[in-house]
This record gives sequence, C-alpha cells and structure tokens, in this order.
Amino acid sequence: MILTTRNLGYTVRGNSIVRDISMEIIEGETFGLVGPNGSGKSTFLRLVQGILAPSTGASFLQGESVASMPRRRIAQMIAFVEQHSESADRLTVRDVVELGRNPWLSALQPWSRDEDRIVGQALADVEMRAMETRLWHTLSGGEKQRVQLARALAQQPRLLLLDEPTNHLDVHHQLSILGLIKGLPLTAVVALHDLNHALMCDRVGVMHRGQMVAVGPPEETLTPDLLHTVFGVRVNMLHDHVSGRPVMSFTL
Ligand SMILES: Nc1ncnc2c1ncn2[C@@H]1O[C@H](COP(=O)(O)OP(=O)(O)OP(=O)(O)O)[C@@H](O)[C@H]1O
Ligand SMILES: [Mg+2]
Repeated sequence: MILTTRNLGYTVRGNSIVRDISMEIIEGETFGLVGPNGSGKSTFLRLVQGILAPSTGASFLQGESVASMPRRRIAQMIAFVEQHSESADRLTVRDVVELGRNPWLSALQPWSRDEDRIVGQALADVEMRAMETRLWHTLSGGEKQRVQLARALAQQPRLLLLDEPTNHLDVHHQLSILGLIKGLPLTAVVALHDLNHALMCDRVGVMHRGQMVAVGPPEETLTPDLLHTVFGVRVNMLHDHVSGRPVMSFTL
C-alpha cells in the first residue's frame, strides 16, 4: 500500500466536512475520486498529504505517518495539482515546470543537465514544449492546467494527487492527459466529475457528504442505485460498440 488513511476526519466550526475515512491506495493504480460538489474530495486530497491537519485519524505513506514527515520528504513522494492552481505572473511556462524540481535540489545537488531533461520531458508529455517561453499569465485555462500537470510530473513523485485535472481541457487533451496519467509508472488519485472518465480508472471511490461510501472497480461500484442516491440522477448503462467499453448517460 502506498497510501493508507485511518479514521481520517476534518471538522470546521462544528461542521464535519470529511468523516471517518479508512481506506488504502494500491501502488501503481489510477484511483478515481468522484462525488457531488461539496462532498469533500478536495478536502480529502489535502488531508491525506498533510496540507490540512486532520481533526481525527491519520494518513500513512508507505506505513509512515504523514504528520511526522518533513515537508521536503513528502514533496519527494507526492505531487499535487490543485483544483484552481495559480502561479506568479512573471514566470515563464518553463520556470513553472522547473519549480517541480525544488524538492530534489540542495547545495549538494544543484541544478544539473538531468533537471533540464526531466523538465523538457514533462513539457513534452503535456504537449506544451512549444510554449515553454510564454509567460504564465498569457496562457488559457487549459494550457495552465497542462503546465501545472507538467510541474507535478517534473517532481517525479511516487504518488500523484490531481484535483479535477481535466476540467478546463478540450476533448482531445482530456483523453490524452487521462491516458498519460494511466500509463505513467506511478500511483495517481484523481478527483473527477466526468463519470465516464471514472470508468477508465482501475478503482474508484465515491464520496457523499464527507464520507467514502463505496470503493472498488468502477463497473461494480458506480451502480445506478448508488449514483441515484449520491447524485440524484438516473443512469443508463450503454455499450460502446467501437471501444467495447460501457458508457453512461444521465437523466434527472
Ligand atoms: N475552511 C472551510 N470552512 C468552512 N467550510 C469549508 C471549509 N473548507 C471546505 N468547506 C466546505 O466543505 C465542503 C467540502 O468541500 P470540498 O472542497 O472538499 O468539496 P469537493 O468535493 O472538492 O467539491 P467540488 O466538486 O465542488 O470541488 C464544502 O461544502 C465546503 O464549502
Ligand atoms: Mg473540489
């Protein structure tokens, strides 16, 4: 297990936002986190890596308590792309991606040619190499999102935590970024709103009112009954004859 949570909870002024979550993330999997607006996905992603201090319980990275790990060691293992990530306006695209190398640099380990290669590869992976000299504030929403993902990739983490990484992307980049994440030799936990994208994950977790109400393989977990309870929609499971995969359509 790369990540384990035990009775993880978070309360703000008496409101329980994340409640009693005990679960495991398996090394190498792409784990989709789904749930309605306000169900606690972003809070959960921040809690597990110690950005927020849990009110109850704890999370463990390869068995070690995250609360007692130095930030730099956490950053060598976990990269995070937030739901709304910003960066300093005066930075270029390449500067932003270079920030991903920070956890690995020190007086004894200065910037090297390896760093240049890793940053170049990360830019190429998200198809942003041609824009590497552009200033951050001139980018479109989807371009910013791809640059933030490149920064996270340049960090060379074992665990990638992504909060809605495709919400600004066009359909081509949605699929290419999801394919990229799935194909990387690392573990990814990805908050998603598109349940058809969740179907492509190895496993999914469904959040509802702060609780993790179901975890498992997508086709067994995202059942019409559960989705009706959690999202208040009716689901038709269709079969795509071209891809051979199930597809969901929704009505109220
Ligand atoms: N510091 C805070 N003070 C008060 N309420 C908070 C705080 N942080 C989060 N919340 C509330 O907790 C709930 C969960 O928020 P969170 O951002 O984790 O949801 P989410 O599942 O990521 O939603 P979305 O799909 O809209 O991104 C929301 O109702 C939010 O308003
Ligand atoms: Mg969120």
